[in-house]
Amino acid sequence: MKRLFFLSALFALVCCSSPKSDMDRYVDDLMSRMTLDQKIGQLNLHSSPGFISAERVTEEDENTKMLREGMLGGIYGGSNTAVLKRAQEIAVEAGAGIPLIFGMDVIHGHETVFPIPLAMSTSWNIDKIERAARIAASEASAAGINWVFSPMVDICRDARWGRIAEGAGEDPYLGGEIAKAFVRGYQGTDGVFDTDEVMACVKHYALYGAAEGGRDYNSVFLSRQEAMNGYMVPYREAALAGAGSYMSSFNEFEGIPATMNKWLMDDVLRKMWGFDGFIVSDATAVVEEVAHGIGDLQEVSARSLQAGLDMDMNSDGFVGTLKQSLKEGRIKEADIDRACRRILEAKYKLGLFEDPFRYLDEGRRTERVFTLENRAFARELAGECQVLLKNDGVLPLKPGTRVAVVGPLADNASAMMGTWTTSSRRDETVTVRKGLAERTQTLYAEGSWLFRDKETEESVRYGMMKVFRPDFQAPGVHEVPQAVLIAEAVAKAMLSDVVIACVGEIAEMNGEGASRSDVSIPDAQVELLRALKATGKPVVMVLFTGRPLVLVDEDRDMNAILDVMALGTEGGRAIADVLFGDVNPSAKLTNSYPRSVGQLPLYYNHKNTGRPHGEYDAYKKFVSCYIDEVNGPLYPFGYGLSYTSFDYSAPRLSSSSVAMKGSVDVTVTVTNTGSRDGDETVQLYIHDVYATSTRPVKELRAFRKVHIPAGQSADVTFTLTADDLKYYNHELEYVCEPGDFEVMTGPNSRDVQTVLLTVK
Ligand code: BGC
Repeated sequence: MKRLFFLSALFALVCCSSPKSDMDRYVDDLMSRMTLDQKIGQLNLHSSPGFISAERVTEEDENTKMLREGMLGGIYGGSNTAVLKRAQEIAVEAGAGIPLIFGMDVIHGHETVFPIPLAMSTSWNIDKIERAARIAASEASAAGINWVFSPMVDICRDARWGRIAEGAGEDPYLGGEIAKAFVRGYQGTDGVFDTDEVMACVKHYALYGAAEGGRDYNSVFLSRQEAMNGYMVPYREAALAGAGSYMSSFNEFEGIPATMNKWLMDDVLRKMWGFDGFIVSDATAVVEEVAHGIGDLQEVSARSLQAGLDMDMNSDGFVGTLKQSLKEGRIKEADIDRACRRILEAKYKLGLFEDPFRYLDEGRRTERVFTLENRAFARELAGECQVLLKNDGVLPLKPGTRVAVVGPLADNASAMMGTWTTSSRRDETVTVRKGLAERTQTLYAEGSWLFRDKETEESVRYGMMKVFRPDFQAPGVHEVPQAVLIAEAVAKAMLSDVVIACVGEIAEMNGEGASRSDVSIPDAQVELLRALKATGKPVVMVLFTGRPLVLVDEDRDMNAILDVMALGTEGGRAIADVLFGDVNPSAKLTNSYPRSVGQLPLYYNHKNTGRPHGEYDAYKKFVSCYIDEVNGPLYPFGYGLSYTSFDYSAPRLSSSSVAMKGSVDVTVTVTNTGSRDGDETVQLYIHDVYATSTRPVKELRAFRKVHIPAGQSADVTFTLTADDLKYYNHELEYVCEPGDFEVMTGPNSRDVQTVLLTVK
């Protein structure tokens, strides 16, 4: 099929017309035959419980009726190939005969689940992230899905926001590199969609991660300049990498909801960055503009369309009101045509007009999905996504160590999966208990409740079920007394050489609609940790989380802390690989970990202020600091330990000055001073000393992950040009301003060495 497509593209080229103009002619012709209703129908996207779970599409199904009337452009949330196939048959038999696009939240893998995106980002391994996206695309497309609601590229500086778990952390440069990797992995790189490639949908556009106070869906208050420099880069990089679609976000920006924000969608995404795909709203985001206080459904639908939104997810605002708005002269037919064209173009690019069923081959599932190869890669990637935060020497464990594996998350498949898995095979997930039992002698104990408060535990565990299934009867919690659970854990600890304490957040404690005002390990689990410490046995804390947590007490009390977040299908084995030293940890944090909630928002690339204060200096009057806490994080951005140690030289420049059009090499020598081979991510930061606008104290501008055998050194060279030193100035021009720049290199954002570079 791909070859056919290529040949026809080549033929078109030989005939002096580009494939794009072929597409234009095709879409022109199609649209000339479409009725207004059919065009509006293309702008409508639905999910349907029927489509998610039904074995067949019934005549009574609401979506089926809409399909027959040509009122749906796509469906999301289904992965039953037979159901999707039937829906496609109805769509192509109806009205204008236009195939549906099938969307799905494929966030970190499909049936084979990879680490949550935040964990994936700690690998700093761009090639492996791209490969994970490629496997996810291959598995999802085998189920009939051709459009994935990923990558989520929202930058976040506030650990309170639950959706920080879905992104790549706080840094715009790293976020941009990861965004591109996801787009390449999903869509391929040759501009043609093969049947194991899917269209990316970059979300949430834009600035959703800056929700005030970290409360989900909350308003965003940022200057345009701060937005462009601190948050927009990953959205830009995804557009430049050719992402096919974007999803607008729930939040408002500058008093206008993002879903009707012309500046975001039209001026920046389309005009400034040249994005030519389509934009879909987030689920019900159009109708939510009513609650935002903009107008009734007709008003907000018209304004969203005019601002550049093309497809309405689950609000029925477009399909329900645009015709009336056209009659009343509130919108033009050209507005509808423009949006319809963009959606038809996406379908054309996906090859759906050539063959509406090209993704719907039921036989492919067995060949491609949840294969041993995919699972082996999931384990390999998960090995690179565990950040060793502390180690007093207890790790790695020696072969034959007797292990007490305890804690409410030690045998919890859902915690291992993490947030946003729609098609995972939960029963086949390897928990820590299972992963460790496969290689050593273990004793297991649940150890504690999740929360001391019963109501909190119930509402956290079952909150989602209660929303989607009002008749849901939650199973009981706290049935065994906490004291009994702890006593059992302590007894098993006493019979073991080392305790592996699996604590933190279950999947439901982060992700969408899961903001927290207290980002620490819940009280009941802290009680367990204290009891374990009191046994005198060495305690290794394996931390499950979807966000940075405050770990001041644990850093003091635990012998080692391994931050695994949520590692997916093969997590338990990958954790055992690291605990026993088969894999030397190399992950590094992509968010600053706070010392207290009061420090939030916390991020390394902050401004200096006119009264700066050292990150770890004590309180002093009349400078920018707190009475009761230092400014610096507990663990800085870029931080992570290894079983070996690395020594860094000062950075050396090939020349101390560089012309605007020139380039300069920055070299740093990194020596593995320990006794094990290891991987190290070498980081390069810059600081524009004087600029026409204030600039952050540090900004990541390059990094490289290198393998260095024990006792050996590696020279790591980065080439910098003026492009690497650019930023959006006050007029939002993307410029490099001449003058002095500090160039810093090191193992993390805190421990850097500096050299001065002059740009002429
Ligand atoms: C989320 C999106 C998601 C969409 C469809 C929304 O609630 O914000 O990230 O893609 O639902 O499932």
